[in-house]
Amino acid sequence: MKIKDDIREIKLEDLKADEFIKQKVREISSAVGNGIAVNALSGGVDSSTVTLLAHRALGDRLKTYFIENGLMREGEPQRVVSFFRKLGIKVELFDARKEFFNALKGLTDPEEKREAITQTFYKNVFGRLVKESGAEFLLHGTIYTDVEETLAGVKRQHNILEQLGIDTKKAFGYKVIEPLVELRKPAVRKVAKALGLPEEVYNRPPFPGPALAARVIGEVTPERIETVRKATKIVEDESSGSGAFQYLAILHADMVTGMREGKRDYGHQIEVRCWDSKDAVTGEPTRLPHDIMERLADRITSEMPQVVSVTYNITRKPPSTIEAV
Ligand code: XMP
Repeated sequence: MKIKDDIREIKLEDLKADEFIKQKVREISSAVGNGIAVNALSGGVDSSTVTLLAHRALGDRLKTYFIENGLMREGEPQRVVSFFRKLGIKVELFDARKEFFNALKGLTDPEEKREAITQTFYKNVFGRLVKESGAEFLLHGTIYTDVEETLAGVKRQHNILEQLGIDTKKAFGYKVIEPLVELRKPAVRKVAKALGLPEEVYNRPPFPGPALAARVIGEVTPERIETVRKATKIVEDESSGSGAFQYLAILHADMVTGMREGKRDYGHQIEVRCWDSKDAVTGEPTRLPHDIMERLADRITSEMPQVVSVTYNITRKPPSTIEAV
């Protein structure tokens, strides 16, 4: 398999955000010409930055979709669409929940789950949308760390295709443009800020492409996603002031014994991970105050009666990873 090795990192200290923006707007304009491009917006800092850059370059010739894969956090699809509408960027919400859950049915192996999401996203849903829109280009928020980790075999990021030598034009019918591929996350945040995005966007904790499916060990079903979604909301509520780099809830595959109303019960386990990190390449568990941990356990087990155990991950990355899948 051919691997691209011509991507050079632009370091944070060398990045001149305004010049970078001008250059990328020019590059996108000249690559797309008079054609049409599409992009998928998830609301994270990478895809939000790409959306703004491409909108500057292409205006109405950019078609932005929010793919509702059923794996997003509570209220997220509607929140993102209405936020960008206010910025004057029309985002179409595309409901693909059934397709994603069908593709994930019966899968428990982490790489198979990631692959199912990649295929459903790029081949089925996006391939179709791109064909219908007449677009020849897909803009994507791949960043330098994604390439690096994929090449190192640490993880198959769901957005790495051309770096792996996959010809997207041949495989899926469109060409991929990746304006952020020379940047790591802190540099992307700097560009996002220079583009005028608000702090809640440019300082957003990272969120994985496979979304909550990266936090479900075992089979991904609508019910199991709903469980991890509720726990995620509680962990985000309670940890957002901690200054941590990223915080998340994971649903385990094994059930454990617990106690409810004086009787033995058998229920789910939620694992909380809260990370101190600079760029997600390495990480350390945040030293969360014990009263926050207690509140997490109390809220999760009282607001979610199906959960009887809440644990806190005390392992560094490596050997742990930030996500569970
Ligand atoms: P891991 O779990 O590999 O995560 O330690 C490192 C960082 O990357 C995020 N992550 C992803 N981001 N697509 C993405 O865009 C993915 O497939 C993906 N998997 C993990 C994760 O949240 C963390 O910040």
